[in-house]
Amino acid sequence: MNDNQLGRRRREFMIQAGALAGASLLPVSARAQAAKLRLGLMLPYTGTYAQLGVAIENGLKLALEQAGGKLGGRAVEFFKVDDESEPSKATDNANRLITRDRVDVLIGSVHSGVAMGMLKVAKESGTLMLIPNAGAGAATGALCTPNVFRTSFTNWQPVHPLGKVMAERGHKKAIFITWKYAAGEESLASFSEGFAAAGGAVVKELFVPFPTVEFQALLTEIASVKPDAVACFFAGGGAVKFVKDYAAAGLKEKIPLYGSGFLTEGVLPAQGDAAEGLLTTLHYADSLENPRNKAFRSAYAKAYKTEPDVYAVQGFDTGLLLTQALDKTKGDIGNQKAVISAMEGAVIDSPRGQWKMSRAHNPIQDIYLRRVEQGDNKVIAVAWKALEDPARGCRL
Ligand code: BEZ
Repeated sequence: MNDNQLGRRRREFMIQAGALAGASLLPVSARAQAAKLRLGLMLPYTGTYAQLGVAIENGLKLALEQAGGKLGGRAVEFFKVDDESEPSKATDNANRLITRDRVDVLIGSVHSGVAMGMLKVAKESGTLMLIPNAGAGAATGALCTPNVFRTSFTNWQPVHPLGKVMAERGHKKAIFITWKYAAGEESLASFSEGFAAAGGAVVKELFVPFPTVEFQALLTEIASVKPDAVACFFAGGGAVKFVKDYAAAGLKEKIPLYGSGFLTEGVLPAQGDAAEGLLTTLHYADSLENPRNKAFRSAYAKAYKTEPDVYAVQGFDTGLLLTQALDKTKGDIGNQKAVISAMEGAVIDSPRGQWKMSRAHNPIQDIYLRRVEQGDNKVIAVAWKALEDPARGCRL
């Protein structure tokens, strides 16, 4: 579908839904100049990923505030839905934001399954969608589409370098443990691929249903298999519990634990000593030495009285992307072709380091190796420079 067809599809979708009755009588250009830009936030505000949703919203709002509170000269209005990290409610929630709230942009979500439901609605309706976290590969892979952009990562990216890192540290046999849903499964697949290429092998895959945190039986199994190391994907509240349980089971000193960096993002105060020394790979680290990161961290801490994390950075970058594209198009969100083209050409001067969009609409970015030191994720190396997701199956 080309951009004109997308625009037409969105208008048809809105008329069918009755959302444009009355409003459609105004000329497009008049509406574009006068109305507020309507941003639909579909994020988790309850459950294991609640803190992640809040950080994304905070980061986004900080970027908009720093841009003078307007996008392309237009004031902004927010419409929020708590998606509960519940994929079965995702299409209804997204449809409601589009038809009832008439949002111009759909922003979400954290959970890969929820993002896939939103993607379906964004494709059907032609609504511009920005993904500020969820790593589901298909969104910028086999199901990529012109009106969907991601400002975060694919599940493939953060863990792809981890296997090499672990093999270089002498680990040849690893167990991978994670939640049984797309983010965990895709992280496992990417890790296995990278680890095998470096001469390692995943000897056992262990799963718990999302979002449960009953790890005891699996920790007992890890102890009995005795791999060289364990790698994992957990985030939010689940990451706190896993890291604490791993240490409490006496495994931390015996079988080194590694993870995609979400394991220690935004949760270090809650993990305490159990997290000290953990090595992870991610596209951000607290201690990144660039002026943008320093300015961002201090502005965020001042505004929200808490330290930012990768989720806050992704929200912030979503705001930067919107600002760039709408400034360039003078706030004319209805000119989707121009907005898409501006987003495709955007270079984001991010706290994580400068990044640009891949052909498939996903960041090409550095992945850092980090170690938890005195409650901070410290960068110890660039694990992979300018890593681009392979975007298998995307034909943009
Ligand atoms: C995901 O579901 O894609 C995801 C959730 C939290 C952190 C990273 C990825």
